[in-house]
Amino acid sequence: ADEPLVLGIETSCDETGVGIVRGTTLLANAVASSVDDHARFGGVVPEIASRAHLEAMVPTIERALKEAGVSARDLDGIAVTAGPGLAGALLVGVSAAKAYAYALDKPLYGVNHLASHICVDQLEHGPLPEPTMALLVSGGHSSLLLAPDITSDVRPMGATIDDAAGEAFDKIARVLNLGFPGGPVIDRLAKEGDPEAIAFPRGLSGPRDPAYDFSFSGLKTAVARWVEAKRNAGEDVPVRDVAASFQEAVVDVLTRKAVRACKDEGVDHLMIGGGVAANSRLRALAEERCERAGIRLRVPRPGLCTDNGAMVAALGAEMVARNRPASDLELSADSSLPV
Ligand code: KG4
Ligand code: ZN
Repeated sequence: ADEPLVLGIETSCDETGVGIVRGTTLLANAVASSVDDHARFGGVVPEIASRAHLEAMVPTIERALKEAGVSARDLDGIAVTAGPGLAGALLVGVSAAKAYAYALDKPLYGVNHLASHICVDQLEHGPLPEPTMALLVSGGHSSLLLAPDITSDVRPMGATIDDAAGEAFDKIARVLNLGFPGGPVIDRLAKEGDPEAIAFPRGLSGPRDPAYDFSFSGLKTAVARWVEAKRNAGEDVPVRDVAASFQEAVVDVLTRKAVRACKDEGVDHLMIGGGVAANSRLRALAEERCERAGIRLRVPRPGLCTDNGAMVAALGAEMVARNRPASDLELSADSSLPV
């Protein structure tokens, strides 16, 4: 009953998220997205995102408080994404969190966006075992992280050396004229396609390549060239097969490297988070490979995988519960904050 009541604010990209949790229990998860404002540009436009955050911030905080049925006076802390992310977008959230923390006289917790993507799973599956291995895949990041302590020790094992996994989905969707964001459409079309129709390259999969890093730009180019050759030859592009074969190339590498990292480090839990974790084939293949390796897989539901405020609140509550030091009001946004 004495679990900490924490409000979390997330504005690292295009989603204004405000969540409220009590310990590991989700009470509210209000999200205002500006994704439609970016659609016609085929990607997130930082200036548009910052402005949208500014307009949505206070109404979204009020909506979350109402949804949770709690009073701001009863909060035990206010957590906010301090980075990494878009500088101007982060600044809106950090400024709002500071203002509320100061006005309400509550402790402020600046948290890492990637760590909170991992911690959010507590809201779905209960306390996270430590250490946990995490594969975070979204439009902005693709990382493999080892988390011996979610509040203070999250270590990068590997990351993409070029495009993020979600970015690759979005770019291929553009090549196929499927609109933005591309992940959900490709996921859907791939179900009707043959994943083995076209042998697209698996990035950084050679014996001398880094074991845990990813690369998707070569794959992206290969798919674009293949489609262009078809078009130039005046042939129909088998969109479903391209989608399925491309998707298979991405999730094959992601799951293989994640499972290998778990084995190498002797970790028996893998969590997958970020927007791409919504991908049905990624979930299925990860389940299959984890089961074979004796690894427990934890994937939160899609609404908790994409950027949201609840994940920030979840990590903030964990910091309160473990008596971690609060941030002071000098807290600033850091667009390249390391874990
Ligand atoms: O976590 P997120 O909402 O925002 C950040 O990028 O941080 O992730 C959005 C990304 C987009 O690139 C989108 O195309 C991708 O996640 N995505 C998917 C699926 N749903 C969303 N990718 C593959 N399959 C999906 N079902
Ligand atoms: Zn994210």
